[in-house]
Amino acid sequence: MIIIKSQREVDLIRKSSRIIAECFDLVKPYIKPGVKTKELDDVVLDHIQSRGGISAFKNYNGYPGNICVSIDKEVVHGIPGERTLEEGQIVSIDIGVILNNYYGDAARTFAVGAITDDKKKLLRVTEEALLKGIDEARVGNRLSDISNAIQTHVERENFSVVRDLVGHGVGRKLHEDPQIPNYGEPNRGPRLKPGMVFAIEPMVNMGSFQVVVADDSWTIYTKDGMPSAHFEHTIAITAGDPEILSVIG
Ligand code: MF3
Ligand code: CO
Repeated sequence: MIIIKSQREVDLIRKSSRIIAECFDLVKPYIKPGVKTKELDDVVLDHIQSRGGISAFKNYNGYPGNICVSIDKEVVHGIPGERTLEEGQIVSIDIGVILNNYYGDAARTFAVGAITDDKKKLLRVTEEALLKGIDEARVGNRLSDISNAIQTHVERENFSVVRDLVGHGVGRKLHEDPQIPNYGEPNRGPRLKPGMVFAIEPMVNMGSFQVVVADDSWTIYTKDGMPSAHFEHTIAITAGDPEILSVIG
């Protein structure tokens, strides 16, 4: 069942989500060669706590980090640790915040120093796909119109969309109904209504869409070893344009 949030609830999810946007601005200057992924976790946790929030990921199904840090072939759910970033890598950072019992969830992929043109294109196309998906999150549309817009853009640019992981409803919990695949036929699934709040999160691979789970049982990486990018926003469906909640504005 898809929970319809009241205006008050959307306001609370906006507060949680805005903290995540602040975290990205704060952590960005740390993303350079030599930085340990654990240091990124520390910077983000400090800020979440300074705002009175809690990491939504820590201990979620036993997850050991406060954030997820996934490098190059890693798609999502990389665990922060002693590893250092290196020039030319791309690094995805995924952050979830709970404030006043309401959840926000967002992710971005950053360049570490100078990266190849292929990687630049991967970041651009993944973020564009997210925004095209969000633009379909309107009353009158159906859920899979979001999915189809994402897949269409990604495949037009000759990249592939990960099938095994999906976006989701978010708000009173980190993961609520519905599941939101990043691929599919248009005009399928539930009709979108004001007050629905979604975490839309395309994961886009430069090579094939196949992924594997690592021995740590968390990290997901590409089967072919090619790079992968991830952008995610928490958004609300309104009577008018979709509202992106995981921004500073
Ligand atoms: N944004 C991811 C998701 O929506 C992150 C959750 S992973 C975990 O599933 F670390 F919390 F487990
Ligand atoms: Co998510």
